[in-house]
Amino acid sequence: MKLTDDEQAILEGEEGEACAHAMDLLARYGQALGAERLVDTNNVCGGIVGSLPGRRDVLPPDKKMDMDAVFSLLNLDSDKTLEIPPFKANTYRLIEAMDPDLYEVQGVSEETRHLVENTSKFCSRVGIQQCNTCTPYQIGNVPAFGEHCAWMESSSVVYINSVIGARSNVEGAHSTAAAALVGKIPYWGYHIPENRFGTHLIDVEYPVNDMLDWGLLGYYVGEMVHENIPILTGLNGVPHRDKLKHFGASASSSGGVEMYHLIGITPAAPTLEAAFGGGNPVETLRFGPQERKTAYEYFNTGREPNVDLVMLGCPHASLDQVQLVADLLEGKKLSENTDLWMFTPRALKIKADRMGYTQTLEMAGAYLMVDSCVALSKVFPEGAKVAATDSCKQAHYLPAILGFETWLGTTKQCVQAAITGRWHGGLS
Ligand code: F3S
Repeated sequence: MKLTDDEQAILEGEEGEACAHAMDLLARYGQALGAERLVDTNNVCGGIVGSLPGRRDVLPPDKKMDMDAVFSLLNLDSDKTLEIPPFKANTYRLIEAMDPDLYEVQGVSEETRHLVENTSKFCSRVGIQQCNTCTPYQIGNVPAFGEHCAWMESSSVVYINSVIGARSNVEGAHSTAAAALVGKIPYWGYHIPENRFGTHLIDVEYPVNDMLDWGLLGYYVGEMVHENIPILTGLNGVPHRDKLKHFGASASSSGGVEMYHLIGITPAAPTLEAAFGGGNPVETLRFGPQERKTAYEYFNTGREPNVDLVMLGCPHASLDQVQLVADLLEGKKLSENTDLWMFTPRALKIKADRMGYTQTLEMAGAYLMVDSCVALSKVFPEGAKVAATDSCKQAHYLPAILGFETWLGTTKQCVQAAITGRWHGGLS
């Protein structure tokens, strides 16, 4: 790992102890990955994790409210409390532990609320934009084609690599924190053009139309190619960006896919030859009716039909998705036994409020929540055990993280379950 003179000076303390520590962390991280150098980045999306479940519990009681200490320990792996200066790179915050307006509904403790408020003040002090969403690209952070980014959330990384043509690996809380402080990230993996060519060819032989089908296709692809780069052919038309969002989120949760190509659709894949970089596929796979059915049945076998919670908005919902749910709930009431929580970025909820969608959801007994999500914030209605969702990613995580029995279906089937209290979904 070769550092430039400027980087070496930061390592030696020219910009203070925290930046020196960050540079050391990045140099060691790069070395371990086999990177030869760092690259500049001015677009970091990471987690300020001190208030999140799991992380907040390891903090020493006397340090919990000292954000320099919390950030040093949890984001920079330093037992010593470093004085954290304003961040050098433009930095955006991912998910938080709760919705600040609906924390009581979410069952969040007073202590967590104080941690969240304290974390928020720290973000303002060091200049982190508090987007508090896993989909920064839905609310204005749309990187340029080829831009080197340091993003952490897997569903957003696969989106910007594939749909936009930006460059990021799936980073962690430490590397994004260090990148934010010094504006650098190791140049490896998806930053390098030769690593961005496709490896596997997927022949899509079933007409993939709705969001559920895009999720099932993503789940199948992730399982088959693991961490490689699939190239899809045979698609019928250009999909809506929400479908690409679900496809990538699904493929990254079942298999760790960080980039894909859709021939004639995504920017690095004008032709099959360009997407493969002149090479040949290591394997050719097909997605037909049987593969679709197998992926669906993986999620939907032998569950309790009574549904306690319908969770929508994983990844965080677009305004189009909120509008659809508002249309489906217009004039309806949820079952007394079922909650419906939908998650969206705060910036979009403001629009949903203006359009009357939030009010329609609330009139039906549902909630439109921000800043958080069921699986990562670990917030859910007390006693809930059976969930339904329209997201393969959430269906993947809910049983694993929270022990929920989980149904997967279309958005319409999920809303229907919230109204009747029972699952009537199925694969059409
Ligand atoms: Fe976002 Fe939570 Fe899903 S962070 S991608 S809504 S698991």
